[in-house]
Amino acid sequence: MQTPLTELLGCRYPIIQTAMGWVADPALVAATGEAGGFGFLAGAVMTLEEIEAGILEIKARTDAPFGVNFHMYVPFAEDIVDLCIKHRVRAVSYSRSPSAQSVAKLKAAGIVCIPTVGAFKHAVKAVELGADALVVQGGEGGGHTGSVATSILLAQVCGAVSVPVAAAGGFRDGAGLVAALAMGAQGIAMGTRFLLTEESPVPGVTKSVYLDTPPESIVVSSRLDGLPQRMIANGYLASLMQASQVGLLIRALRNGLAFTRMTGASLWAMLGSAWRMRRSGDLSLGQTLMAANAPMMIQEAMVRGHPEQGILPSGQVAGLIDDLPTVATLIADIMSEAEATLERLASHRASEQPGGQTE
Ligand SMILES: Cc1cc2nc3c(=O)[nH]c(=O)nc-3n(C[C@H](O)[C@H](O)[C@H](O)COP(=O)(O)O)c2cc1C
Repeated sequence: MQTPLTELLGCRYPIIQTAMGWVADPALVAATGEAGGFGFLAGAVMTLEEIEAGILEIKARTDAPFGVNFHMYVPFAEDIVDLCIKHRVRAVSYSRSPSAQSVAKLKAAGIVCIPTVGAFKHAVKAVELGADALVVQGGEGGGHTGSVATSILLAQVCGAVSVPVAAAGGFRDGAGLVAALAMGAQGIAMGTRFLLTEESPVPGVTKSVYLDTPPESIVVSSRLDGLPQRMIANGYLASLMQASQVGLLIRALRNGLAFTRMTGASLWAMLGSAWRMRRSGDLSLGQTLMAANAPMMIQEAMVRGHPEQGILPSGQVAGLIDDLPTVATLIADIMSEAEATLERLASHRASEQPGGQTE
């Protein structure tokens, strides 16, 4: 199934595995590429050295094209851009646009720029800044998310931009892919569905919590870092809701220092990033201070296997998922379900024509 999105990304199927901190590792990205989808490495929680090692590992595992996700506010964002160019990565994704010069540099090197947007105005701005395609994520989606549902946001964005769009937020199967195509998208992008696969590195005990959670227990809260984030309601989130402002500040400073150590950046470089973040006007002072909370608190559940002591970012779609297929099976099933869905719709139409077959 070829669409303008598959042509741009060089993959067989219009299915993107989005970046997820601590989850979208080289094995998951390579498995996605091998199966015909397009995977993004979660570079936003990695050091520069880890990103380079990740790129090399993916290349050793597969010849399929893939992308790298990064955060423009890390002190070494410009170095990540150079790294992607050096290793001829096919695409980059980001949620806040890097500088106009970086976007121009990436595009001049032939790298596809495909940011994720969660609001109509961000979609328009991202295209103005040079995006080649968009991942349009509705409020059902996991991690940081907007307030407008996928169906509404897609209608807004697809009617206004001329670049290819991948629909995100709530997708898991072939019927969803057909629905997204019908609404004007050129493919789907999924996070939670790929988190719940055999190759995903998330510990089994944490995956079980995702599988057992109903959609209504996957909620949005800004308590983690001041920005709306969709996650599973657990004891840790309840403790964040009850914490005092001083308690939250102490937690934020502790996580800020831990994040600085983890990324290997100097304290001055991190303070410089915080200053740029604040000055850009994108984030309030409180949000800037809490920016390191999410990556540090997610690690506890996703890496250390303590789902009750950390944050579990999740799309509401986890409430509909009850299996852990391999990535190859997942992608093959989505494509055959999509074909079956199209045939079913065509046969309904045929049966409605005068003289058409009846069921
Ligand atoms: C565990 C988890 C971690 C995530 N981490 C990131 C990240 O590091 N960078 C990013 O751009 N988006 C991140 N996201 C958002 C996803 O890339 C994706 O946009 C979202 O999951 C799509 O919605 P879905 O879960 O309904 O498929 C994360 C989502 C989840 C569930």
